[in-house]
Amino acid sequence: MSPPVPSPTPEAGAPSEALVAEALALRDAPAEELLAWVEQRLGARAAIAASFGVEDMVLIDLARRHAPSMRVFTLDTGRLPPETYELIEVVRNRYGVTVETYFPERARVEALESTQGYFSFRRSLEARKECCAIRKVEPLRRALHGRDAWVTGLRREQSQNRAAVATVEHDREHGGLLKLNPLAAWTRQQVWEHVRVNAVPYNALHDRGYPSIGCAPCTRAVKPYEDERAGRWWWESREHTECGLHPVR
Ligand code: ADX
Ligand code: SF4
Repeated sequence: MSPPVPSPTPEAGAPSEALVAEALALRDAPAEELLAWVEQRLGARAAIAASFGVEDMVLIDLARRHAPSMRVFTLDTGRLPPETYELIEVVRNRYGVTVETYFPERARVEALESTQGYFSFRRSLEARKECCAIRKVEPLRRALHGRDAWVTGLRREQSQNRAAVATVEHDREHGGLLKLNPLAAWTRQQVWEHVRVNAVPYNALHDRGYPSIGCAPCTRAVKPYEDERAGRWWWESREHTECGLHPVR
């Protein structure tokens, strides 16, 4: 007889230690298996954080089959490229997914733009971090509130800073919820193979030399010999390629 399956934690937003331990035991599991566990144990209390780059599209596609109850949210910074908004519309229509949208606080954006203009982030690292804090980091905190897990498209191959990303992490920085990175071990080639085989829609900018896509004014195409994140905040030195959503390791 198989052992009884413990019931999910009653309190949303604070996964029990037992649940965290269960998840951590899956750290070497393939993405499909991890997502099936999410469906069984967390359901709608887990959400994909989607910027609608190719990794997030693979996650949305995998979730359709393995974790259909999981939610999808996006941080709409107000500065995303038109191609990203077009893709969100495709996802809404093709997958029937509700994309829960978190927008920055109006008063803070108004103050930022009124006092510092529309391109303050070009002036200094501090100014750039201030813009990311207002447009991304604060909305992320709201987006994670009350959830048990967030699911990201982080991959170890993306940068040196991400080389130690684990498939399952206990995200104490955001109140102890689970942070799941099912594609952590995937190569870029594997990601694109999944897109090809499953006819997954993707951001048009990927075909124009953008391996990584964020806000329009802070993202550009890269040369074939450059690394995947070289087009993000390209005017800064390479150790500054995180915006505050993910830890600098
Ligand atoms: S970022 O921190 O520099 O923006 P990147 O663009 O590589 O990160 O995205 C890594 C992962 O962070 C994505 O796969 C996604 O899970 C999450 N993410 C990044 N930007 C957003 C966003 N605007 N909304 C929701 N999730 C995001
Ligand atoms: Fe602001 Fe650029 Fe950060 Fe977007 S990526 S929040 S525009 S600094």
